[in-house]
Amino acid sequence: MMKTYLDKSAPIEERVDDLLNQLTLDEKIRLLRGKDFWTTNPIERLQIPAFGMTDGPLGVAYHSSFKGKRTRFPSTIALAASWNKELAYSTGKVMGKETKLAGRHQILGPGVNLIRSPLCGRNFEYLSEDPILSSDIAAEVVRGIQSENIAACIKHYITNCSETKRMEISTEIQERALHEIYIKNFKRIIEKSGPWGLMSCYNKINGVYGSGNKHLLKDILRDELGFTGHVVTDWGASRNVEGGAAQCIKAGLSLEMPGIAMSRTMRPKNIQKALKAEKISESDIDYVVKPLLRTFFRVGLFDKEIIEPSKILDIPEHQDLARKVAEEGAVLMKNDGILPIDLNQVKKIAVIGPNAQKKFGAPFHGGSSAVVPPRFITPYHGIAKYVKGKAQIVSDPKDADVTILVLGMNHGGHFLKTMLFGNKTEGDMEGKDRTSYSLPEDQNKLFEDTIKQNSNTVVLLVAGSPVDCSIFLEKSRGLLNVWYPGMTGGDAVARLVFGEVNPSGKLPVTYPKKLEDHPAHISKKRFPGDLDELKIYFDEGIFVGYRYFDKENIEPQFPFGFGLSYTTFKLSNLRVSIPKIERNGKFAVSVDVKNTGSRAGSEVVQVYISDDHASIERPPIELQDFVKIHVNPGETKTVSVELDQSAFEFYSEKDHEFIIEPGSFTLWVGTSSRDLPLKSKIEYVN
Ligand code: BGC
Repeated sequence: MMKTYLDKSAPIEERVDDLLNQLTLDEKIRLLRGKDFWTTNPIERLQIPAFGMTDGPLGVAYHSSFKGKRTRFPSTIALAASWNKELAYSTGKVMGKETKLAGRHQILGPGVNLIRSPLCGRNFEYLSEDPILSSDIAAEVVRGIQSENIAACIKHYITNCSETKRMEISTEIQERALHEIYIKNFKRIIEKSGPWGLMSCYNKINGVYGSGNKHLLKDILRDELGFTGHVVTDWGASRNVEGGAAQCIKAGLSLEMPGIAMSRTMRPKNIQKALKAEKISESDIDYVVKPLLRTFFRVGLFDKEIIEPSKILDIPEHQDLARKVAEEGAVLMKNDGILPIDLNQVKKIAVIGPNAQKKFGAPFHGGSSAVVPPRFITPYHGIAKYVKGKAQIVSDPKDADVTILVLGMNHGGHFLKTMLFGNKTEGDMEGKDRTSYSLPEDQNKLFEDTIKQNSNTVVLLVAGSPVDCSIFLEKSRGLLNVWYPGMTGGDAVARLVFGEVNPSGKLPVTYPKKLEDHPAHISKKRFPGDLDELKIYFDEGIFVGYRYFDKENIEPQFPFGFGLSYTTFKLSNLRVSIPKIERNGKFAVSVDVKNTGSRAGSEVVQVYISDDHASIERPPIELQDFVKIHVNPGETKTVSVELDQSAFEFYSEKDHEFIIEPGSFTLWVGTSSRDLPLKSKIEYVN
């Protein structure tokens, strides 16, 4: 008779239980640590194949997928800036497909750490400073990936919001902020998309390493949030856990990666020792093996035909999607009318600057996100191609009708060189944070020189994090932020600049006027942390990003949710379905959006809430939901969102849970956190 675990038609939980019963103790132990850099140990006796992982989150990475070339997507922060949930789903789906075509079962993404500071070296891989925007976009990416029977892996749990001393530093954080901001982000992703995998972080949280943290991994993640997938360590993250294998297993860790010398905590002999010393029992081992087996069945490890990994994926539809993400994520931050450039009038264009022809995606460059595409279209090449036969590209701003100056950062040094000699690039990088909010000095000088030669200068920003725009904000005629726009980014840039596509991205992070205005930079203790004590203090508590700027009434350079368009919109007719809401009730918020300009375009309707009277200090406003809608000139469309009681809650340190205080709340609706023209009251009654 066929064994239940091999029976495709049997329910997953029955297959998991059956397989668990068939495994010997030694075999279970072998499953808890990787075989090599990217796979688990196969168990031939039971026909358990190796489970294969590939890095993300900008696509299927080169180093972990047989040195293959794949679609390189725009940075995750660009996807968040699109505020487009459907686009996030499609992106996840393509990542799932390409992971499958690479012969792997899991992609190590999306990266979902909150963007607490503009200087974190990995902001480009993350989404937002806001847990609602972050979780709503990330959940769609996860759903998309998993619709292809590939496991997503949300990372890095939790508070891994900086890179300096990431393997040793301890996040010092209060209970309320931990739950109300950081856990909430993961909680909503889990509720909305049920990810099959999660990666623990390198850092400690209040003194305890993330990979051996029973409170966070077991009590909260599994028991409270209901996470049913497996927890894998960040690569080498368990090596410093003081209590070794016993502590990791008791905490609920299912898999130590990679299976090489850099991580040896979960070596079989260490686990055997812990068993012998009765620090753990076989049922503790079953508890952590089970979620891993569940993932094996979810991805169809036993049922799948073996895929011969293809070396080069050159799939036009996938690249078109990458272009669409770049287009929808681009944020127009200033425009005095110079954009879109009219090719009937402009005949000579200079496209200059350090990022005009920079190609991203060289092998082994860029940490986990080292995705190597089959080709790369830079802004220069995209524009040159677009204007061919209509305008001339010149090299000297003096000769140009318009200059496009492409400034920004450089994501990623070479893995090995960075390990040996440190980070020499000026940009975003794994293991390093930026030390300055400004662009490199020579770029500011280049801007000043360019503007002297040609006052019709538009700045195109290519960077994965907020950078200080004050120098060119005043004197440039336009500012378009395209983040790292991916392999087809140059085409997206051209379509945006010449008006074939109307910009519709909104900032997923606040840009401060100066770093000292930012809540994470009030002191060095907050960022990069006290590096003698090896502690980083999250002393701003729940007042992360715009929550702080609003509370302190500080004018940012650009507020959260901000972004211009080539058209104009008017919001009106705010309706709330019921005036009072009771426990477990839901309510709808609707609004009409009219395109009052002359071009078609998309607008992001943002819904915020504030508590009119609370017993503790709460942020002035908090995002609750958002909808992106495309509207033609003169047309009006209605959008609605449905909210529930979680819109009113806050975390009480007294009760150790989320609570809602009955009373009146204000709903705010608009198109940025600082442009909320519509409001309405709603009451919560117990
Ligand atoms: C990164 C992870 C990554 C892992 C495997 C670590 O250094 O922090 O995000 O998935 O390496 O490459």
